[in-house]
Amino acid sequence: MSKTIPYLFICLVFLCTSFSQAQQIGGATTGSEICFSCHKDQAKDWGTTWHSRSHVDSNPLYKAVIDYMSRITYQPEAGVLVECAQCHNPKMTIKEIADKDSFALSEALKIKTAQTERVEASVKDKAIKDGISCNICHNVAKINETSNLQMRGFKAVEWGSSDTIYGPFEDDGRARIHKSLQKEHFVNPNQLCMVCHFGGERSGIEIYTTGIEYTQSGSKETCAECHMSTKRQGTIAPEIKKTGVTAEVRDIRSHLFASARNSNVLEDTIELTATSSGKNFVVTLRNLTPHKAPTGFGGRSMNVKMEFKDASGSIVNVQTYVLETVYADKKGQETIPYLAAAIKSDTRLNANEIRKLSIPKPAGATSVTVNVTYRLASERLLKIINFSDSIFNKEYPVKSINVGL
Ligand code: HEC
Ligand code: HEC
Ligand code: HEC
Ligand code: HEC
Ligand code: HEC
Repeated sequence: MSKTIPYLFICLVFLCTSFSQAQQIGGATTGSEICFSCHKDQAKDWGTTWHSRSHVDSNPLYKAVIDYMSRITYQPEAGVLVECAQCHNPKMTIKEIADKDSFALSEALKIKTAQTERVEASVKDKAIKDGISCNICHNVAKINETSNLQMRGFKAVEWGSSDTIYGPFEDDGRARIHKSLQKEHFVNPNQLCMVCHFGGERSGIEIYTTGIEYTQSGSKETCAECHMSTKRQGTIAPEIKKTGVTAEVRDIRSHLFASARNSNVLEDTIELTATSSGKNFVVTLRNLTPHKAPTGFGGRSMNVKMEFKDASGSIVNVQTYVLETVYADKKGQETIPYLAAAIKSDTRLNANEIRKLSIPKPAGATSVTVNVTYRLASERLLKIINFSDSIFNKEYPVKSINVGL
């Protein structure tokens, strides 16, 4: 029921007010459902991505990491959440906890104060539950360029007015329900992606370095080309025809923000070859992306598993090489990225790197299967935070080959 009513309402709005003034639909207080019935394709694609699940109530790993940080740092969960919201929920109304000590004490003793009530309400606000939604990206009027890696997320942007949608096209007044304004960060969207995928420094450790890796690679291919789609011809609001206006055919992209979870992007991650060379077996991994593989959230990993078999097909030896980052706290203990004082090791492939792994052939082995898989959460991370879940504790296939020795 909750789905049909807004839909009917929007159809009415579309038909009846199409020649009236632009509505207040792009602001801080409205959710993004209002966009869905006119822009069905974008909404359908976006709904499959975890941009739509960046709120703590829809992402179990995010919740588990926040719970862990809250336990280790003796901070209330809501306190950690407010910090992370900088990028995960950039329109959360509370931006900082004013009096951290009194907040922690009130939360621990479960005493309700004006501050705890304000923070709880802000964290649970319905308007932010749809994550990195239409009303986040398309309400960005300006991006402040800065080299400060902490000034990311909401700290890097200026929100626009609530009757205007910022996008890739010049305003021709066709949308009517909203004004639109062309912005450079939609014509060349790398800059928009970098608002959150570049930086996020904590205690001197750079947490999200995808944008930095990409910039250093000198790639000419944009984030949108690989993660949205190449440009194709299409209409962006087919319903417009109901008002007697022809939907204009334009160059558009899909809104997939393609990842392991909703696309076959992993197939394009590496090129995998293997040869027998004297006493050794050599596996070559070539990173086809202009950022690290794996990149992004510091808990991701890729496993290169080699199963050596004898002439009868029985496994005689198994070796696994893990591509991942290991973080250490002040005492040198392994920890999660956000609590780290140092990076202990980083075996991920650099942008466009070609890496050769040379392994002595085990006795009796006559063939080998190399299986490369991707993990959203490494086994190491899941052990530290003591968490398991079928989406995150899973090996997503990347590439596999079989070679005679
Ligand atoms: C993470 C940022 C982001 C989010 C979230 C997002 N968009 Fe977009 N959108 C873009 C970018 C970037 C472009 C420009 C793509 C290009 O042309 O290169 C775009 C383009 C568009 C266009 C123009 C045509 C096209 O598809 O290229 C429409 C319409 C649109 N978005 C609607 C939506 C709606 C509706 C939602 C929510 C369901 C949404 N967007 C969510 C970034 C975003
Ligand atoms: C009542 C229908 C309707 C609703 C609701 C609606 N739009 Fe639009 N939108 C349109 C139409 C019509 C166009 C122009 C299509 C054309 O020119 O063919 C348009 C154009 C756009 C464009 C391209 C304009 C540009 O400057 O690049 C974007 C982006 C966009 N809408 C995003 C949104 C977002 C985000 C929302 C929700 C906050 C939204 N729209 C809500 C009908 C709607
Ligand atoms: C306002 C901050 C913000 C902006 C702007 C943004 N992202 Fe994201 N992105 C995030 C967050 C936060 C996540 C993780 C969400 C989660 O898994 O809970 C994410 C996740 C992703 C993922 C993984 C999605 C999945 O389904 O697993 C991809 C790919 C991605 N972003 C690409 C992009 C691209 C390309 C752009 C630019 C067009 C962009 N992002 C703009 C914050 C942002
Ligand atoms: C040539 C295509 C290509 C380009 C250009 C590219 N990527 Fe990627 N990206 C990939 C592939 C393939 C993967 C999957 C393997 C990996 O994690 O490295 C990926 C993974 C990611 C992930 C992790 C997805 C997940 O599952 O969480 C994020 C985030 C991301 N890219 C963001 C970006 C951003 C931001 C840019 C631009 C600065 C960009 N990418 C440019 C191909 C590309
Ligand atoms: C600078 C912006 C920024 C800040 C601040 C930030 N994140 Fe993120 N976060 C991202 C982006 C971008 C991604 C997506 C990267 C990817 O897909 O690999 C992400 C992804 C994640 C993921 C993986 C989610 C998934 O679905 O796989 C977790 C967990 C996470 N963040 C936890 C946190 C926590 C906890 C904090 C606060 C201590 C935090 N983040 C602060 C930008 C940020």
